[in-house]
Amino acid sequence: MKKTITNLKDIENKKILVRLDLNVPIDNKKIVDNNRIIQSLPTLNYLIEKGGKIIIFSHLGRIKSESDKEKKSLKIVGEELSKLLNKNVIFVKKTRGKELENKINSLKKGDVLLVENTRFEDFINEKVTKYESSCDGELSKYWASLGDVFVNDAFGTLHRKHASNYGISINIKEKVIGFLVKKELEVLEKIKMNPERPFVVILGGAKISDKVGVIDSMLKIADKVIIGPAMSYTFRLATNHLVGKSLIDESKIEYAKNILKNNSEKIIVAFDSIAVKEINDDKNQELKSYEEIPDDYMGVDLGEKSIKLIQDSLKNARTIFWNGPLGIIENDKYSNGSKEILNSIVNLKNVFTVIGGGDSGLMTKKLGLEKRVSYISTGGGASLKFLENKEMPSLELIEDI
Ligand code: ADP
Ligand code: 3PG
Ligand code: MG
Repeated sequence: MKKTITNLKDIENKKILVRLDLNVPIDNKKIVDNNRIIQSLPTLNYLIEKGGKIIIFSHLGRIKSESDKEKKSLKIVGEELSKLLNKNVIFVKKTRGKELENKINSLKKGDVLLVENTRFEDFINEKVTKYESSCDGELSKYWASLGDVFVNDAFGTLHRKHASNYGISINIKEKVIGFLVKKELEVLEKIKMNPERPFVVILGGAKISDKVGVIDSMLKIADKVIIGPAMSYTFRLATNHLVGKSLIDESKIEYAKNILKNNSEKIIVAFDSIAVKEINDDKNQELKSYEEIPDDYMGVDLGEKSIKLIQDSLKNARTIFWNGPLGIIENDKYSNGSKEILNSIVNLKNVFTVIGGGDSGLMTKKLGLEKRVSYISTGGGASLKFLENKEMPSLELIEDI
């Protein structure tokens, strides 16, 4: 058991650095789903009540250009957090420097300050710098120097070795996990150590390069692994099918071939897809399923036959872990596959279902089914890495009690 905030003796008037995962989906300058913010409240309220001076760090999206910075400021997240905490959150537009230091020094007990998106450190003056994402030593030391204690409650980024989690941890003496990380680890531990079988894993979503590598490990712990869009297109290509303009990762084709060759019994790949010419087209395009996707078409949702195949494969499941929507669910038109599968899952009896990931959680919520699954994890990549038994760098630095 890791040390948690309830093991901290002195909080009053201490500067508490808190890493949260406030990486929420934003559309048109509006937060589409505030779940990650809500899940961070117990830790924040506890620290406020105990009279800490709270300094929050979080990333938002990935920053690869100046224009990304305009879209990915944490300012509106700070406003939402103010509302939810019912108290003013001081937002500092900078990730380092005098203004930040002065504001931190003038905090009173119970005050909350939010630092700008930590990944703004990844792109500075027109250059890719990756100070945050490559865990730059100087930045890590600097951030750690701003506080007395570190609370890591960013479950969604536990698998990352970045300056704002791993970097602060190695440079600060006292560090603990928060309530969210504790809760997440308890649920996922149950699936990892002792899942009721059959245990079925469903993988979809867009972060193919990040996540395709976990299939190997999932095949070891699960009885069946289902690969849906957009992950499936790399596998379809590996077996010489046509995928048109669908999302793929060319560097993983050989890996996909080997996986399929060695695990034909356990692995199920969605074989048909709804495909369209233009994703954001207002014209009423026909939504048709293809097994072979034409050249200028892109797969956007799970196809009719694959819906049936997946529903059949889930029938006897006693444990289900699902990461990654099975279509571009931001558009209602392409949500049908995810909806059908989720609807059949919530109607299964005696099954423990965990949905993992920001977008997958949002999908469940959008369909109004969040109360009918056993647990929604705030981490996609992180929950997969945890189940995989892979190193969670930021977690390992926190002592056990
Ligand atoms: P999570 O946040 O649950 O971990 P990911 O971030 O890996 O999941 O993937 C979610 C994204 O995957 C969504 O933005 C969705 O639009 C995208 N996606 C799903 N299916 C497709 C597809 N067929 N083509 C392109 N993107 C897809
Ligand atoms: C997530 O959305 O999975 C987490 O916030 C981590 O984001 P990342 O994959 O960009 O590190
Ligand atoms: Mg996501």
